Amino acid sequence: MKPAKLHYWILGWFFTALCCWCTSDTFIQSDIHPHAWKKLYFAHHWPVTVCKMNANDCHDPPEYWTIHGLWPDRAEDCNRTWHFNVTEIKDLLSDMRHYWPDVLHSSLNRTQFWKHEWDKHGTCAATLEVLNSQKKYFGKAIELYQHVDLNGCLLKAGIKPSSSYYKMTAIKETLTRFYGVTPKIQCLPPEEGEEAQTIGQIEFCFTKELQLVNCTAREGGSNVMHAHLKLGTSELSVCNDTLPTYYPSEVQNHK
Ligand SMILES: *[C@@H]1O[C@H](CO)[C@@H](O)[C@H](O)[C@H]1NC(C)=O
Ligand SMILES: *[C@@H]1O[C@H](CO)[C@@H](O)[C@H](O)[C@H]1NC(C)=O
Ligand SMILES: *[C@@H]1O[C@H](CO)[C@@H](O)[C@H](O)[C@H]1NC(C)=O
Ligand SMILES: *[C@@H]1O[C@H](CO)[C@@H](O)[C@H](O)[C@H]1NC(C)=O
Ligand SMILES: *[C@@H]1O[C@H](CO)[C@@H](O)[C@H](O)[C@H]1NC(C)=O
Repeated sequence: MKPAKLHYWILGWFFTALCCWCTSDTFIQSDIHPHAWKKLYFAHHWPVTVCKMNANDCHDPPEYWTIHGLWPDRAEDCNRTWHFNVTEIKDLLSDMRHYWPDVLHSSLNRTQFWKHEWDKHGTCAATLEVLNSQKKYFGKAIELYQHVDLNGCLLKAGIKPSSSYYKMTAIKETLTRFYGVTPKIQCLPPEEGEEAQTIGQIEFCFTKELQLVNCTAREGGSNVMHAHLKLGTSELSVCNDTLPTYYPSEVQNHK
């Protein structure tokens, strides 16, 4: 290669690299292309912890893990003209109330939570044919919930709400062994003067073919998911492997 050619080659490489770098950076900003997502996060939350995080009217939370949402990574609010319409999911309503309740507003109009999930996440997930209607999106989430059966898995492993603490590594290993993939586990950090974190959310990752995958791979890059973690005044974050972990059976410190 002649020196001049080499020079252009290097320059070309440099701009290609620069360009990729810019593109991945703009993912974080806005105007995310609805097709840009790669993975679905299927979030289950522990209603008792959700209640603990909020000063809202949250009475008698269910004592089983419920659905928080089915979220494409790297995409949100993909179609603002595709409005949520509860009539479209009328056949699913009894399952929805049971498996996907609005834990925080149980006494109010419950469709708001589903509307929020559809507007923000469902409209993006709908680029997949198997999720391209409200009935398919919510119906498939319920199907995945039953298939994953997180409540059954934890029960079989003897991991139950308790006043004594669990080791986070034990919970993580149990789930990883059972499912063959590593979920993302989130906790409320210890409050001042407390030693234990409180488990709050477990997310399973799926490919676009709806196969389970590790949540850990290529986690960095986008911070879009952060938006989901904040509820009320306290915030969930990835659990600390070394802290004792509380799996609460009743709401304490109710504000
Ligand atoms: C957005 O949703 C509307 C209403 O369902 C639909 O007609 C339109 O094709 C959608 N736009 C895109 C870009 O998917
Ligand atoms: C809601 O969906 C139902 C059933 O598909 C349909 O008949 C109705 O027109 C829709 N309502 C609106 C406001 O789009
Ligand atoms: C709940 O909200 C929907 C749409 O916002 C409305 O049509 C319905 O009447 C409300 N139901 C109750 C019980 O308030
Ligand atoms: C998931 O992670 C586990 C352990 O971290 C690894 O053994 C396994 O091969 C991974 N599976 C996939 C499908 O990437
Ligand atoms: C986990 O908690 C321990 C003990 O409080 C602390 O030293 C460590 O920095 C924490 N690790 C992370 C990743 O936050």
